[in-house]
Amino acid sequence: MEDEAVELSLRPRYLAEYIGQTQVKENLKIYIEAAKMRKEALDHVLLYGPPGLGKTTLSNIIANELGVNVRTTSGPAIERPGDLAAILTNLQEGDVLFIDEIHRLHRTVEEVLYPAMEDFALDIIIGKGPSARSVRLDLPPFTLVGATTRAGLLSAPLRDRFGVVSRLEYYTVDELSFIVSRAADILQVGIVGDAADEIGKRSRGTPRIANRLLKRVRDYAQVRGDGVITTDIARAALKLIQVDDLGLDEIDHKMLRAIMTHFRGGPVGLDTIAATIGEESQTIEDVYEPYLLQIGFLQRTPRGRTVTASAYRHLGLPVPSADGGRD
Ligand code: ADE
Repeated sequence: MEDEAVELSLRPRYLAEYIGQTQVKENLKIYIEAAKMRKEALDHVLLYGPPGLGKTTLSNIIANELGVNVRTTSGPAIERPGDLAAILTNLQEGDVLFIDEIHRLHRTVEEVLYPAMEDFALDIIIGKGPSARSVRLDLPPFTLVGATTRAGLLSAPLRDRFGVVSRLEYYTVDELSFIVSRAADILQVGIVGDAADEIGKRSRGTPRIANRLLKRVRDYAQVRGDGVITTDIARAALKLIQVDDLGLDEIDHKMLRAIMTHFRGGPVGLDTIAATIGEESQTIEDVYEPYLLQIGFLQRTPRGRTVTASAYRHLGLPVPSADGGRD
């Protein structure tokens, strides 16, 4: 199987198979059941949080649990209002429309979405100039599931139209270890419990990373071992791909080291960091920074980012004394 197909086969399809996000799951379960009892479309759902925590997976699960179809698209993919109108008019009653990166919708497209979400209606302008008039077209009731890494970037009118707003949190090591064991089962590869924990520990709270690491460790076990993932095999494989014992990779290291050595631990602006290490500011902000903030290696201040004493210790560098008590 190709990597992408493997990826899909690992995704849970129902809430009962979905590990973690207990609160979100419990709430969704109630709302889904209530909507089904009333034979109504589920209220619109906004899922937000760092990448890789299962926003797309959850939107598919919502559709499966409701027993409806899901149509998947993304903010930047919908270029014109007409593109959205085409999608909306093709939905069937109760369907889920999943819009990933919903914070990147064009303003003009967003305006079509307001009446669609609120009244299940599409306002179409016919003609030009003084004779132009607006015609309202009814849409089947549907559920919009929006996903974003940054709820703060959503316009207030859009955010206000979601009846359910759920924030996805980083997973615990135990949850990730479960996810790895479950995935190993599906992939039919043997893994000892401690090895699953080891991968869980190094997955930055993120199932997508856990599954990716598992696949690379599986490769290693196949070529250098007898196919079974032992703790030693897991450690050796992760060492080879430069994922350290906290799950930090080369880019995390590069970024922390750059702030320490070039900017005396900060504060330094995001764009300056990005230019120094040759990465996009956006990628750093969305992908790398949230986890470093979460584990207390990085802090955001009004004047920029600073690294903490624990980050120095982790990299084995001396903690600066004077103004360096940043723990
Ligand atoms: N695979 C990826 N994310 C998962 C989750 N939350 N639960 C179970 N399997 C997963």
